[in-house]
Amino acid sequence: MMNGLRISGWGTALPERTVTNADLAKRLDTTEEWIVERTGIRERRIGGTTSGLATEAGARAIQRAGLQPEDIDLVILATTTPDKTVPASAPSVQHALGLTCGAFDLNAACSGFVYGLVVAQGMLRTGLKRILLIGSETLSRITDWEDRSTSILFADGAGAIVVEATDGDGILGWDLRADGGNLSALYSDVGGTFQMQGREVYRRAVHAMVESSQHAMNEAGVRPEDIKLLVPHQANLRIITTSGRRIGIPLERTALVLQKTGNASAASIPLALESALDGDRLAPGDLVLFSGYGAGMTAASAVVRW
Ligand code: ACO
Repeated sequence: MMNGLRISGWGTALPERTVTNADLAKRLDTTEEWIVERTGIRERRIGGTTSGLATEAGARAIQRAGLQPEDIDLVILATTTPDKTVPASAPSVQHALGLTCGAFDLNAACSGFVYGLVVAQGMLRTGLKRILLIGSETLSRITDWEDRSTSILFADGAGAIVVEATDGDGILGWDLRADGGNLSALYSDVGGTFQMQGREVYRRAVHAMVESSQHAMNEAGVRPEDIKLLVPHQANLRIITTSGRRIGIPLERTALVLQKTGNASAASIPLALESALDGDRLAPGDLVLFSGYGAGMTAASAVVRW
């Protein structure tokens, strides 16, 4: 029985169209400076479909892992913006990639990718060998572009990894949480657009990310100084900075991509991971802490040995 896991491939996809803060400032009662100062975001990508972006990112991850489509045993697509209410978007990705395995969507909002990683470990322990885990979003479809408090944040994009069973370490420690008593802080009704209490989300996000990360590190038996790289959900630079400080991991050991991608919900962690890998910021044996939080209010963290 192989209880361990390894991330053997990764890939991302972003729509072509870039929307800068200056573009938003032309249409809304805001300024470039306000957006950068309060969020850290400078530009974001808009366009595409959730399954289309997921397919592109997934194909790149399979290729980088050196695998063929028939090697993949399962597709988990973390998304809060499926292309249709029915069916899930994962089967379209499965078909477009030429896979023959099972495929399902997982919705835990911005925590979805880390929820998916933990689910993937469980599925590998039932005997599967290779899982394609994707986070893909088209948040622009449920964003009110006249609302300056939300349209400056949300974006589209996808990131994917191949997770393989090994006889080495599994996820060393993990934490999944949700608080359904706080749905009003951030939600979108079916057919509607994001409704958000920004300050409330901010406060809860910091609290959830800190607690969830600490729980995962405790379970793993590691300290903040042992973590080589924190890969957090990319919602807001101030949330990331404050949470990192409280967790004990400085910004120099944190993966950041939101300046260029905005908040792409379930896609944001694999987008940040790839940017760190492009910068050679991880070597075999390094400890990585993934940590996400989002609507629900959900939170999820996992410590993995690279
Ligand atoms: N430009 C200029 N002024 C603005 C803008 C804008 N784009 N948006 C809001 N304001 C105004 C507000 O109307 C308010 O004015 P008032 O004082 O006259 O009422 C003032 O700026 C301050 O507003 P706050 O909401 O207090 O500003 P804050 O510093 O909290 O920043 C922000 C707002 C960026 C939304 C922040 O609260 C935040 O990031 N919250 C978390 C949001 C988030 O991360 N959501 C997603 C997380 S989960 C997920 O990813 C799905």
